[in-house]
Amino acid sequence: EKTYRICCLPGDGIGPEIIAEGKKVLAAVGERAGVEFAFEDHLIGGAAIDACADPLPAETLDAARASDAVLLASVGGPKWDSTDPAAPRPEQGLLRIRKELGLYTNLRPVKIYDALAGASTLRPEVIRGVDMVLVRELTGGIYFGSHERFYDEGGAGVGGAAGQRAVDVMEYREYEVERIARQAFEAARKRRGKVTSVDKRNVLETSRMWREVVHRVHDEQYPDVELEDLLVDNTAMQLINRPADFDVVVTENMFGDILSDEAAQITGSLGMLASASLGDGVSLFEPSAGSAPDIAGQGIANPLAQILSAAMLLTYALDMGEQAAWIEDAVARVLDEGWRTRDIADEGTPADHILGTAEMGDRVVAAL
Ligand code: NAD
Ligand code: IPM
Ligand code: MN
Repeated sequence: EKTYRICCLPGDGIGPEIIAEGKKVLAAVGERAGVEFAFEDHLIGGAAIDACADPLPAETLDAARASDAVLLASVGGPKWDSTDPAAPRPEQGLLRIRKELGLYTNLRPVKIYDALAGASTLRPEVIRGVDMVLVRELTGGIYFGSHERFYDEGGAGVGGAAGQRAVDVMEYREYEVERIARQAFEAARKRRGKVTSVDKRNVLETSRMWREVVHRVHDEQYPDVELEDLLVDNTAMQLINRPADFDVVVTENMFGDILSDEAAQITGSLGMLASASLGDGVSLFEPSAGSAPDIAGQGIANPLAQILSAAMLLTYALDMGEQAAWIEDAVARVLDEGWRTRDIADEGTPADHILGTAEMGDRVVAAL
């Protein structure tokens, strides 16, 4: 029997609650497929800061590197929101593991489940047929430029501390744009053949280079794919105006962060949005949402993004696409049967169909 080592990073907030359901579903799939998943938990984020003052301990990174795939839940929370810029932040652990593993491609699929048409805040006729994937550049841009604060430079401030200054640098290299563009075009060839490249080229130099490089890659290697350019502000609007028109959306790190939360809400909840972070080595699979401190510890978080991230793990890390489809079909069936967590329930959901986190995981296992 084949054994796969899965490095699990529960993190903070709802993290431990939802990752338990991802493991539960993977274990059930393993049983049916005749493979074994060996799960190992490691510390990241606030939990790691508490244990050893480092949001990404070396031990965690080593374990991730030695694994067949990493399943991450979420990091962060008010407990670690220090005003001291020198204090370690949980989010640094996540950014560092992405960078260290070279995970430059983040795929965030946004798909409407028929059963959830009523859970969206958009009208059913607007969201009908929505099926897009956001391809977010994940290891460059402003997230990884220098972040600095300068105090007391002698300038006259208004009101508070005099004359302080803060700087975040946004930088891209040509090869970083080229490789993410290729990922987007490859994805489009397996889908409906259309890429929307999102930038802010009317203001940013990085965006002017982005557009130039995306077009060069397109013209040289992917002329068969339809390519559309859209400014990011317009994209934010078009995503809720004509969401079904998008197939593959490719964009830089921060724009992708913002647009993916917006796109997730089309499906009814951020708790539905899975993601795969891919590079040239070990890959990482993480729900797009955060640690949801407002509902942490109550057993009510939606585990489906985590469970669907586990399905992406099967597809992308283990070449088990057939088994990934078992999970996706099971999720669709559970939703068709009317089972909901609170975030995707609507006025029509009977109270006895609103499930807790673990119960939802159990339903998915039962539907496998
Ligand atoms: P969030 O994504 O944690 O929550 C936003 C809203 O969505 C909240 O109302 C939350 O209850 C809801 N939500 C999120 N996931 C849900 C789920 N599975 N089921 C039901 N509802 C869900 O964003 P935030 O509150 O702005 O950030 C909280 C913390 O999470 C911050 O510290 C932030 O840095 C961190 N964060 C981490 C990740 C990650 O680890 N990948 C992603 C985003 C934010
Ligand atoms: C995400 C999160 C992270 C990001 C944070 C927690 C650093 O919001 O995965 O979308 O901005 O990439
Ligand atoms: Mn985000």
